[in-house]
Amino acid sequence: GDNVLYLAHKHGIDLEGACEASLACSTCQVYVSDPHFDKLPEPDEREDDMLDMAPMLQENSRLGCQIV
Ligand code: FES
Repeated sequence: GDNVLYLAHKHGIDLEGACEASLACSTCQVYVSDPHFDKLPEPDEREDDMLDMAPMLQENSRLGCQIV
């Protein structure tokens, strides 16, 4: 689908996405800039759990494969 991970790949942006959007990794982590961050729906619990294990987590971190 047209999530941020998919769009990144489509545009040649090097974002890993090791688990192919099955919420089993955090390699699709992206930093979402203001004001976009506040417009996103809250991450669901599984995304939050994966984010908790993500390296270099920031307050504006999300998983790219979960942003549609
Ligand atoms: Fe693995 Fe997004 S690609 S959680």
